[in-house]
Amino acid sequence: PPVAAVIPAAGRGVRLGPGAPKALRALNGTPMLIHAARALAASRAVSLVVVVAPPDGAAEVKSLLDAHALPGGTPSGSLGRTDFLVVPGGDTRQESVRLGLDALPPEYGIVLVHDAARPLVPVDTVDTVIEAVRDGARAVVPALPLADTVKEVEPATEPGTPEPVVATPVRARLRAVQTPQGFDRETLVRAHEKVTDDVTDDASMVERLGERVVVVPGHEEAFKVTRPLDLVLAEAVLARRRL
Ligand code: C5P
Repeated sequence: PPVAAVIPAAGRGVRLGPGAPKALRALNGTPMLIHAARALAASRAVSLVVVVAPPDGAAEVKSLLDAHALPGGTPSGSLGRTDFLVVPGGDTRQESVRLGLDALPPEYGIVLVHDAARPLVPVDTVDTVIEAVRDGARAVVPALPLADTVKEVEPATEPGTPEPVVATPVRARLRAVQTPQGFDRETLVRAHEKVTDDVTDDASMVERLGERVVVVPGHEEAFKVTRPLDLVLAEAVLARRRL
Protein backbone atom coordinates (compact mmCIF):
# COMPACT_ATOMS: atom_id res chain seq x y z
CA PRO A 1 0.00 0.00 0.00
CA PRO A 2 1.09 3.63 -0.56
CA VAL A 3 2.85 5.35 2.34
CA ALA A 4 1.94 8.77 3.78
CA ALA A 5 3.73 10.67 6.51
CA VAL A 6 2.11 12.92 9.11
CA ILE A 7 4.35 15.57 10.66
CA PRO A 8 2.92 17.10 13.84
CA ALA A 9 4.47 20.57 13.83
CA ALA A 10 1.99 22.50 15.93
CA GLY A 11 3.96 22.64 19.17
CA ARG A 12 5.17 25.94 20.58
CA GLY A 13 8.55 24.63 21.69
CA VAL A 14 8.74 26.53 24.96
CA ARG A 15 11.76 24.51 26.18
CA LEU A 16 13.77 25.92 23.28
CA GLY A 17 13.35 29.44 24.61
CA PRO A 18 11.28 32.37 23.33
CA GLY A 19 10.62 32.80 19.61
CA ALA A 20 8.69 31.32 16.70
CA PRO A 21 6.94 27.92 16.97
CA LYS A 22 9.68 25.28 17.17
CA ALA A 23 9.05 23.77 13.75
CA LEU A 24 9.54 27.13 12.09
CA ARG A 25 12.88 27.93 13.68
CA ALA A 26 15.81 27.86 11.34
CA LEU A 27 18.69 25.40 11.20
CA ASN A 28 21.41 26.79 8.94
CA GLY A 29 18.83 29.18 7.51
CA THR A 30 16.15 26.60 6.71
CA PRO A 31 13.13 25.97 9.00
CA MET A 32 13.30 22.73 10.96
CA LEU A 33 9.99 21.63 9.47
CA ILE A 34 11.42 21.88 5.95
CA HIS A 35 14.39 19.72 6.94
CA ALA A 36 11.98 17.18 8.46
CA ALA A 37 9.67 17.17 5.43
CA ARG A 38 12.64 16.69 3.08
CA ALA A 39 13.96 13.84 5.20
CA LEU A 40 10.68 11.98 4.70
CA ALA A 41 10.28 12.96 1.06
CA ALA A 42 13.78 11.57 0.47
CA SER A 43 12.30 8.09 0.85
CA ARG A 44 11.08 6.78 -2.49
CA ALA A 45 8.24 5.03 -0.68
CA VAL A 46 6.69 8.18 0.78
CA SER A 47 4.30 9.81 -1.68
CA LEU A 48 2.39 12.20 0.60
CA VAL A 49 3.46 14.36 3.52
CA VAL A 50 0.75 15.87 5.73
CA VAL A 51 2.05 18.74 7.82
CA VAL A 52 0.04 19.65 10.92
CA ALA A 53 0.69 23.36 11.39
CA PRO A 54 0.20 25.63 14.40
CA PRO A 55 -3.56 26.44 14.44
CA ASP A 56 -2.95 30.06 13.45
CA GLY A 57 -0.05 29.29 11.12
CA ALA A 58 -1.42 27.01 8.40
CA ALA A 59 -1.18 29.63 5.64
CA GLU A 60 2.39 30.51 6.60
CA VAL A 61 3.41 26.85 6.62
CA LYS A 62 1.75 26.26 3.26
CA SER A 63 3.67 29.09 1.60
CA LEU A 64 6.89 27.93 3.24
CA LEU A 65 6.46 24.44 1.77
CA ASP A 66 5.55 25.91 -1.62
CA ALA A 67 8.66 28.08 -1.57
CA HIS A 68 10.94 25.15 -0.75
CA ALA A 69 9.32 22.90 -3.34
CA LEU A 70 10.13 25.21 -6.24
CA PRO A 71 12.17 23.36 -8.85
CA GLY A 72 15.79 24.43 -8.87
CA GLY A 73 15.42 26.16 -5.55
CA THR A 74 16.43 23.25 -3.39
CA PRO A 75 19.15 20.61 -3.22
CA SER A 76 18.38 16.91 -3.67
CA GLY A 77 15.71 15.62 -1.32
CA SER A 78 13.42 18.47 -2.21
CA LEU A 79 9.68 18.02 -2.00
CA GLY A 80 9.57 17.99 -5.79
CA ARG A 81 8.02 14.55 -6.40
CA THR A 82 6.18 14.24 -3.09
CA ASP A 83 2.74 15.73 -2.51
CA PHE A 84 2.02 17.62 0.63
CA LEU A 85 -1.01 18.87 2.50
CA VAL A 86 -1.20 21.33 5.37
CA VAL A 87 -3.84 21.12 8.11
CA PRO A 88 -4.20 23.18 11.31
CA GLY A 89 -3.22 21.38 14.53
CA GLY A 90 -4.65 21.09 18.03
CA ASP A 91 -3.81 21.71 21.67
CA THR A 92 -1.96 18.45 22.21
CA ARG A 93 0.38 16.35 20.10
CA GLN A 94 -2.22 13.57 20.01
CA GLU A 95 -4.91 15.92 18.76
CA SER A 96 -2.55 17.24 16.10
CA VAL A 97 -1.76 13.71 14.89
CA ARG A 98 -5.47 12.85 14.81
CA LEU A 99 -6.20 15.93 12.69
CA GLY A 100 -3.42 14.84 10.32
CA LEU A 101 -4.87 11.32 10.06
CA ASP A 102 -8.33 12.75 9.30
CA ALA A 103 -6.87 14.50 6.25
CA LEU A 104 -5.39 11.34 4.68
CA PRO A 105 -6.91 10.15 1.38
CA PRO A 106 -8.20 6.56 1.58
CA GLU A 107 -5.50 4.89 -0.52
CA TYR A 108 -2.75 5.31 2.07
CA GLY A 109 -2.57 2.04 3.98
CA ILE A 110 0.70 2.77 5.77
CA VAL A 111 1.25 5.89 7.87
CA LEU A 112 4.41 7.30 9.38
CA VAL A 113 4.21 9.84 12.18
CA HIS A 114 7.30 12.00 12.43
CA ASP A 115 8.13 14.87 14.78
CA ALA A 116 9.05 18.12 13.06
CA ALA A 117 11.47 18.35 15.98
CA ARG A 118 13.58 15.51 14.48
CA PRO A 119 14.73 17.33 11.36
CA LEU A 120 17.83 15.25 10.59
CA VAL A 121 16.53 11.69 10.53
CA PRO A 122 18.45 9.77 7.84
CA VAL A 123 16.46 8.29 4.96
CA ASP A 124 17.76 4.81 5.83
CA THR A 125 15.96 4.99 9.16
CA VAL A 126 12.74 6.04 7.41
CA ASP A 127 13.08 3.12 4.99
CA THR A 128 13.85 0.61 7.76
CA VAL A 129 10.60 1.58 9.51
CA ILE A 130 8.55 1.33 6.30
CA GLU A 131 10.05 -2.05 5.47
CA ALA A 132 9.12 -3.47 8.87
CA VAL A 133 5.49 -2.35 8.39
CA ARG A 134 5.47 -3.83 4.89
CA ASP A 135 6.79 -7.06 6.40
CA GLY A 136 3.66 -7.26 8.56
CA ALA A 137 4.26 -5.31 11.78
CA ARG A 138 1.31 -3.10 12.74
CA ALA A 139 3.41 -0.65 14.72
CA VAL A 140 7.13 0.00 14.37
CA VAL A 141 9.33 2.28 16.43
CA PRO A 142 12.94 3.26 15.73
CA ALA A 143 14.93 3.34 18.95
CA LEU A 144 18.42 3.34 20.45
CA PRO A 145 19.98 1.87 23.59
CA LEU A 146 20.54 4.38 26.38
CA ALA A 147 23.86 5.85 27.46
CA ASP A 148 22.49 7.04 30.80
CA THR A 149 21.15 4.88 33.58
CA VAL A 150 17.49 5.77 34.17
CA LYS A 151 15.80 6.07 37.57
CA GLU A 152 12.12 6.23 38.31
CA VAL A 153 11.44 8.79 41.03
CA GLU A 154 8.56 10.12 43.06
CA PRO A 155 8.40 13.55 41.39
CA ALA A 156 8.89 16.46 43.79
CA THR A 157 5.96 18.81 44.22
CA GLU A 158 8.29 21.76 44.76
CA PRO A 159 11.09 22.35 42.24
CA GLY A 160 14.60 21.91 43.65
CA THR A 161 13.59 19.40 46.37
CA PRO A 162 15.40 16.02 46.34
CA GLU A 163 13.25 13.29 44.79
CA PRO A 164 13.14 9.77 46.25
CA VAL A 165 14.16 7.00 43.86
CA VAL A 166 11.47 4.39 43.32
CA ALA A 167 13.22 1.99 40.92
CA THR A 168 16.14 1.52 38.53
CA PRO A 169 15.09 -0.40 35.41
CA VAL A 170 17.79 -2.59 33.87
CA ARG A 171 19.44 -0.31 31.34
CA ALA A 172 20.15 -3.02 28.79
CA ARG A 173 16.40 -3.58 28.39
CA LEU A 174 15.57 0.08 27.81
CA ARG A 175 15.39 1.92 24.48
CA ALA A 176 15.01 5.60 23.74
CA VAL A 177 12.38 5.88 21.03
CA GLN A 178 12.46 8.19 18.06
CA THR A 179 10.35 8.90 15.01
CA PRO A 180 9.21 8.25 12.31
CA GLN A 181 7.02 5.62 13.92
CA GLY A 182 5.30 3.49 11.29
CA PHE A 183 1.82 2.00 11.39
CA ASP A 184 -0.72 0.02 9.57
CA ARG A 185 -3.21 2.87 9.09
CA GLU A 186 -6.27 1.08 10.40
CA THR A 187 -4.46 0.18 13.63
CA LEU A 188 -3.31 3.75 14.29
CA VAL A 189 -6.74 5.21 13.52
CA ARG A 190 -8.35 2.69 15.90
CA ALA A 191 -5.81 3.62 18.60
CA HIS A 192 -6.67 7.29 18.21
CA GLU A 193 -10.39 6.50 18.45
CA LYS A 194 -10.14 4.31 21.53
CA VAL A 195 -7.24 5.57 23.62
CA THR A 196 -7.74 8.87 25.38
CA ASP A 197 -4.95 8.66 28.00
CA ASP A 198 -2.23 11.25 27.87
CA VAL A 199 0.69 9.67 26.02
CA THR A 200 3.95 10.98 24.59
CA ASP A 201 4.20 8.80 21.50
CA ASP A 202 1.84 7.16 19.05
CA ALA A 203 3.11 3.63 19.52
CA SER A 204 2.06 3.65 23.18
CA MET A 205 -1.54 4.17 22.09
CA VAL A 206 -1.28 1.04 19.98
CA GLU A 207 0.24 -0.78 22.97
CA ARG A 208 -2.82 0.18 25.03
CA LEU A 209 -4.98 -1.57 22.45
CA GLY A 210 -3.04 -4.72 23.27
CA GLU A 211 -1.43 -4.79 19.83
CA ARG A 212 2.20 -5.78 19.34
CA VAL A 213 4.67 -2.96 18.78
CA VAL A 214 8.21 -3.68 17.58
CA VAL A 215 11.46 -1.75 17.72
CA VAL A 216 13.95 -1.38 14.87
CA PRO A 217 17.34 0.38 15.06
CA GLY A 218 17.10 4.16 15.24
CA HIS A 219 19.88 6.63 14.46
CA GLU A 220 21.89 9.14 16.49
CA GLU A 221 21.01 11.86 13.98
CA ALA A 222 17.29 11.33 14.55
CA PHE A 223 17.59 13.08 17.93
CA LYS A 224 14.90 15.52 19.01
CA VAL A 225 15.66 19.22 19.01
CA THR A 226 14.24 20.25 22.35
CA ARG A 227 16.69 22.51 24.19
CA PRO A 228 19.01 25.27 22.94
CA LEU A 229 22.07 22.96 22.97
CA ASP A 230 20.26 20.65 20.52
CA LEU A 231 20.26 23.47 17.95
CA VAL A 232 24.06 23.66 18.21
CA LEU A 233 24.35 19.90 17.68
CA ALA A 234 21.91 19.97 14.73
CA GLU A 235 23.89 22.68 12.96
CA ALA A 236 27.11 20.73 13.55
CA VAL A 237 25.53 17.63 11.98
CA LEU A 238 24.45 19.65 8.95
CA ALA A 239 27.92 21.16 8.60
CA ARG A 240 29.47 17.67 8.70
CA ARG A 241 27.06 16.43 6.04
CA ARG A 242 28.13 19.19 3.65
CA LEU A 243 31.78 18.03 3.77
O1 C5P B 1 6.59 18.66 22.77
P1 C5P B 1 7.27 17.58 21.98
O2 C5P B 1 8.73 17.87 21.73
O3 C5P B 1 7.02 16.19 22.50
O4 C5P B 1 6.56 17.66 20.56
C1 C5P B 1 6.80 16.68 19.60
C2 C5P B 1 6.18 17.10 18.28
O5 C5P B 1 4.77 17.26 18.42
C3 C5P B 1 6.73 18.43 17.77
O6 C5P B 1 7.06 18.26 16.40
C4 C5P B 1 5.58 19.40 17.99
O7 C5P B 1 5.53 20.43 17.02
C5 C5P B 1 4.36 18.49 17.86
N1 C5P B 1 3.17 19.03 18.56
C6 C5P B 1 1.99 19.28 17.84
N2 C5P B 1 0.88 19.79 18.46
C7 C5P B 1 0.90 20.09 19.77
C8 C5P B 1 2.08 19.84 20.54
C9 C5P B 1 3.20 19.29 19.91
O8 C5P B 1 1.95 19.05 16.63
N3 C5P B 1 -0.18 20.64 20.32
